[in-house]
Amino acid sequence: MQLLSVITVALAAPASAMLRFSCSQLVVDRIDPLVNPGVAPSPHMHQLVGGNALNVTMDPSLDLPTQASCTSCLYTEDFSNYWTAVLYFKARNGTYKRVPTFANQYLEPANGGITVYYIAPYDNKGKVTAFKKGFRMLVGDPTRRSDKGDGDSRMLSFRCWGKDFASEPGMPGGGADTKALPPKPCHGGVRANHFFPTCWDGVNLDSPDHRSHVAYPESGSFESGGPCPASHPVHIPQILYEVAWDTRAFNDPNDWPEDGSQPFVFSMGDPTGYGTHADYVFGWKDDALQRAMDAYCGVNCVQLKTQSPQAANRCTLGQKVAEPIDAWLTELPGGMPVTTSE
Ligand SMILES: *[C@@H]1O[C@H](CO)[C@@H](O)[C@H](O)[C@H]1NC(C)=O
Ligand SMILES: *[C@@H]1O[C@H](CO)[C@@H](O)[C@H](O)[C@H]1NC(C)=O
Repeated sequence: MQLLSVITVALAAPASAMLRFSCSQLVVDRIDPLVNPGVAPSPHMHQLVGGNALNVTMDPSLDLPTQASCTSCLYTEDFSNYWTAVLYFKARNGTYKRVPTFANQYLEPANGGITVYYIAPYDNKGKVTAFKKGFRMLVGDPTRRSDKGDGDSRMLSFRCWGKDFASEPGMPGGGADTKALPPKPCHGGVRANHFFPTCWDGVNLDSPDHRSHVAYPESGSFESGGPCPASHPVHIPQILYEVAWDTRAFNDPNDWPEDGSQPFVFSMGDPTGYGTHADYVFGWKDDALQRAMDAYCGVNCVQLKTQSPQAANRCTLGQKVAEPIDAWLTELPGGMPVTTSE
C-alpha cells in the first residue's frame, strides 16, 4: 500500500480509516511528564504538542479536557499530549542549532509540530478500543544506537524528501525509508515516522517502563490484521506520529562534516537516529475518539469538532525550564553527550 495513494483516497473519501491531523508546536521544553515526572529539567529536550494542561507532573487521575483551556491540535476534543525528541544540526565549528519543524504535506498552515494519525483497521474491517482516561505509553528507546531488527526497528524510520515532498512511494517505513538518519542531504526535509504498538493488556493504563502494557501483533502487522498476543488481547488504534523536520537550511555540502558523515543529532545525544522515540498521554474528551474510530474517520471527520489551523497555532505554552531554543549552542541542552555506542 502506498502512503500517497492512501492519503489521496483519504482526501477524496472521508470514510477512510486514517484519522490524520496536525498538532502545532505547543512548546519546546526540557520536560518529560511520562518518563521523568516532577523533574525539570529532564535529561533531554523535547518538542511537545496538544492540550495546554501539559505540565512537569501529570497525575493519571487528571481529566485533561477539564484542565486544559486550549489544544494545538485541529480536533478540539483532543487534549492529549504528544512529544518527541528534538533534532539539531551540528556545524563544522562544533556548535548546534535546533532544526525547526514545518507543516506536513496537505496540512498547511500548521505551525510545525507533529502530525498525528489514529488508524482504525484497514479496509474498515474490525473494531478498535479507544484508550481510557489516564492511558499513556511510549515507543522507542533513547539509548539505542543500532538496528535490533525487532518491532521497534520496524516502527521507527525516516523518509528523505525531495523538493515539494517528493519521495519514493511506500508506507512510512517502506519504500526507501531508512532506520538511521538519512546519510545524504534531503532537499525537501526529513520526515520521522513513529508507529506505536497496537495491542493492549486491557487492564493497565501504564506500566513502569511505559511499554509492557502494550505489544505488537503476534504475527503479521496491524495493517495485515495480525492477531494480538493472548497477553495483550485488546486491539487499540494504531497511533502514528510524523514529524516534518525542516532541514532545508542545512543542506550545503560545505557545512557537512568533512569525513562524509551526516550532521544531524537528536537531543538525547544520538547522531544515528536509532534512538528516536515518541511519547503519548491520552486526553480525548468523553468518547470522542471511540466515535471517530467506530466511524472509520479519515480527514474531515464529521463526528469530531474542529478549529481552524490559525486557532490551533495560537495555543502555545511557556517553557517550564527557561532556556534558549533557537540560539547556536556550544553543547546540546543539558550538556547531553553525543554517543554512538550503547
Ligand atoms: C503546573 O503545575 C504547577 C505546579 O503544580 C501549577 O502551579 C501550574 O498551574 C500547572 N500548570 C498548568 C498549565 O496546569
Ligand atoms: C559556527 O558555524 C555556524 C554555521 O556556519 C555559524 O552560524 C556560527 O556563527 C559559528 N559559530 C562560531 C562561534 O563561530
